[in-house]
Amino acid sequence: MSEKQKVVIIGSGWGGYRLGYGIDYRKYDITLISPENTSAVTPLLASAACGLFDPRLAHEPIRRKDFHAEYIKAFVDDIDFETQTLICHPAFEELKDQRFEVPYDKVVITPGCRTNTFDIPGVAENAIFVKNVANANAVRSRLNDLLEMASLPGTSEARQRQLLHIVVVGGGPTGIEMAAELTDLFDGDLGVLFPRLKDKTSVSVHDVAPHILAPFDRKLSEYACSALKSNKVDIKVNSHILKVTADTMETKEDGVTGYGMLIWATGNRSIPLIDKLNLRKTEQGLLRLLTDHHLNVFTPDGAVVPNAFAMGDAADIDGGTLPTTAEVAIQKADYLIKLLNSSGKSTQPFHYKQRSLVTYTGRRDGVIQGNRDYTGYGAWLSWRSGSFFWTRSWRRRILMCYAWFMDWLDGREIIRN
Ligand SMILES: Cc1cc2nc3c(=O)[nH]c(=O)nc-3n(C[C@H](O)[C@H](O)[C@H](O)COP(=O)(O)OP(=O)(O)OC[C@H]3O[C@@H](n4cnc5c(N)ncnc54)[C@H](O)[C@@H]3O)c2cc1C
Ligand SMILES: *[C@@H]1O[C@H](CO)[C@@H](O)[C@H](O)[C@H]1NC(C)=O
Ligand SMILES: *[C@@H]1O[C@H](CO)[C@@H](O)[C@H](O)[C@H]1NC(C)=O
Ligand SMILES: *[C@@H]1O[C@H](CO)[C@@H](O)[C@H](O)[C@H]1NC(C)=O
Repeated sequence: MSEKQKVVIIGSGWGGYRLGYGIDYRKYDITLISPENTSAVTPLLASAACGLFDPRLAHEPIRRKDFHAEYIKAFVDDIDFETQTLICHPAFEELKDQRFEVPYDKVVITPGCRTNTFDIPGVAENAIFVKNVANANAVRSRLNDLLEMASLPGTSEARQRQLLHIVVVGGGPTGIEMAAELTDLFDGDLGVLFPRLKDKTSVSVHDVAPHILAPFDRKLSEYACSALKSNKVDIKVNSHILKVTADTMETKEDGVTGYGMLIWATGNRSIPLIDKLNLRKTEQGLLRLLTDHHLNVFTPDGAVVPNAFAMGDAADIDGGTLPTTAEVAIQKADYLIKLLNSSGKSTQPFHYKQRSLVTYTGRRDGVIQGNRDYTGYGAWLSWRSGSFFWTRSWRRRILMCYAWFMDWLDGREIIRN
């Protein structure tokens, strides 16, 4: 009997999911290890949080009929590159001491990164992050509660304004899209369902940097900024957050302001596994594993570690920094799939193809930077069809179309679930 080589993938995000489905299962025994049994379609989370469609459509289950790999719901805690073994613990609170080992012939490390709170007091306890569907659901249900609380008899206007003030921290694409979706919701369906609250809602975006949308050209970033401002989003750049409580935020510039919900969409830091691995890493900013152009990791003194690859947000190529985007993770996954499917015969180095950047700014407007920069309705259309493009199965695409049709016909469902 021919022994198949065993490929183990760490993580079920954009990178891990694609690898799990793409590597040739007739050639390899594939195992995917991740605490999450689904894979988040991250570009859809902001829309899902604001009720454009059922948040479940913003992730895909790992186990499906055409998944020919083994899935283990666990965290990888360490890797022994000498014996080619992973040390893991189950992703269940009651079983977390039940450690076990998984041997590999080849390992792909793609566990992403986590949100950084910069150790600002109160953030971890009071803010909602935007990383997965559970987070999108948290935003959605908090919104519902805030609206109902503000509707209670005897609620003062000042209190209503505080409840309906949403603070978004982070002026990157994620924070901006969140703010855009919230304003659309507030001046669209909410006006109908909560007419008395309509002009008491507000959204503000805080960023420590002097400009929002840092990855975009200055001109587009300024366009986005004025588009958001005309949608009454309060943009606060150069804003330093000092402290957060359950309903207030204190900044160096403006002192204490009240809020109803705080969405934290900024800052990345490495996950514990990456901190722990004794490999060569980036020296500044987000700590990422460094790889060569074939995605192999290095020991600290620069020797290539055999059979170990890293990609996605958790890794970067030595000497050619790429952003932490799904686009990069997908292209690197496709590169590895080709390499592994051909049993290492395809030895071209990885080469990233730049794709255009898109961000929605609300009211059917947005910015696109690519071969040609553009703004306005076209950018909106391209962004919306993007949510179709990002969705990974036909089943979800059909459900997504249905959801849009229903939104158009009967309004969003957010307030009624
Ligand atoms: C709200 C939002 C919107 C975004 N929009 C866009 C966009 O429009 N376009 C774009 O290109 N990019 C976008 N991104 C970026 C994109 O999502 C990331 O770059 C991409 O997810 C990186 O893929 P990854 O596989 O490296 O990691 P992730 O997708 O983060 O997946 C990491 C996986 O590893 C698992 N894991 C963590 N620790 C362990 C461990 N110890 N052991 C095993 N498994 C572990 C996690 O549970 C998770 O399943 C967005 C991100 C966010 C948060
Ligand atoms: C790799 O193999 C899988 C499974 O046979 C196949 O579906 C996929 O198209 C192949 N991909 C490449 C890039 O060779
Ligand atoms: C995934 O895990 C969660 C708990 O983490 C559970 O509630 C859910 O039912 C699981 N989903 C699938 C598709 O197995
Ligand atoms: C953090 O990582 C996410 C991907 O996980 C990315 O979308 C975002 O732009 C990054 N933020 C910063 C500030 O680098």
